[in-house]
Amino acid sequence: MTDAPFAARLAAVAADVEALLERLLSDEVRTGEIARPRRLLAAMRHGALGGGKRLRPFLAVETALLLGRSGEGPLLAGTGVELLHCYSLVHDDLPSMDDDDLRRGRPTVHKAYDEATAILAGDALQTLAFEVMADPATDPDGAVRAELALGLARAAGLGGMAGGQMLDLAAEGRYGATTLDEDAIRTLQAMKTGAILAFAVEAGAIVGRADAGARAALLAFGRHLGAAFQIADDILDREATTEQLGKAAGKDAAAGKGTLVDALGMEGAKREAARLLDATLAALDRFGPAAETLREAARFTVSRSS
Ligand code: IPE
Ligand code: IPE
Ligand code: MG
Ligand code: MG
Ligand code: MG
Repeated sequence: MTDAPFAARLAAVAADVEALLERLLSDEVRTGEIARPRRLLAAMRHGALGGGKRLRPFLAVETALLLGRSGEGPLLAGTGVELLHCYSLVHDDLPSMDDDDLRRGRPTVHKAYDEATAILAGDALQTLAFEVMADPATDPDGAVRAELALGLARAAGLGGMAGGQMLDLAAEGRYGATTLDEDAIRTLQAMKTGAILAFAVEAGAIVGRADAGARAALLAFGRHLGAAFQIADDILDREATTEQLGKAAGKDAAAGKGTLVDALGMEGAKREAARLLDATLAALDRFGPAAETLREAARFTVSRSS
């Protein structure tokens, strides 16, 4: 369950993220741009503004804060990760992918606009994510910015999110019959979801200039949290309502998605989520009480209702 101060903190960061996204996706042509086509901008705004838990930027901001850094830099780094996440959702919902009509309680981008516009909106949200990481406003140190862009590229690409999405579609049997064992499902989930979520924590560690020991502990935290996050998503797909989730519930089993609920059963998946939460919390031991907000974020990730 979520205690009130944590909920307020999450809402405050979400409001900061929203304001920053509003600025990044305004009508105003930015440095280096020629023009902002109105339809594409509107579709990007639809995909990025006005919804979502903003968990990834929260993790980046709170991780940086744990390391003594606050302000616009960590918020920009976290918002870069959120832009990448929003792009992944726009493409995940496309008819050729999960074919979903509802996202964050509203029509998906290809429903509100059209498929070609949704593809381009995803593309441009992705490039904006990298632009934010490479922007001097995010960090004055070019080496830090390069590390942010490098890490995001690795988390989002072939060996991360995009690769995981490929495995996710293949698990449906589209490219030939498959049965994934538990290990294969864990790999799929670590890639499609875990990589970006773990990188959100890492982005906070990068802008926070974590030393090697702190960085390793935070990486372990992020990886366990990413795994727990996707199990919770899979459990919610079976147990929550469409209204609660703001996206269609109960689609994974029908589509033959590879989830740990299939591999372990519902009770087994819940036990696994609890085990992962313990591992996630244990990774924070070295930080003591200062990491309480990150612990709350981990508990929220597993016990959330949407
Ligand atoms: C949903 O992510 C997609 C997955 C990676 C499973 P979230 O549950 O974080 O979605 P929003 O951003 O809050 O809408
Ligand atoms: C989506 O996983 C992961 C990415 C968007 C990369 P899901 O397909 O399970 O996410 P939802 O349930 O549609 O949000
Ligand atoms: Mg999907
Ligand atoms: Mg989906
Ligand atoms: Mg899902």
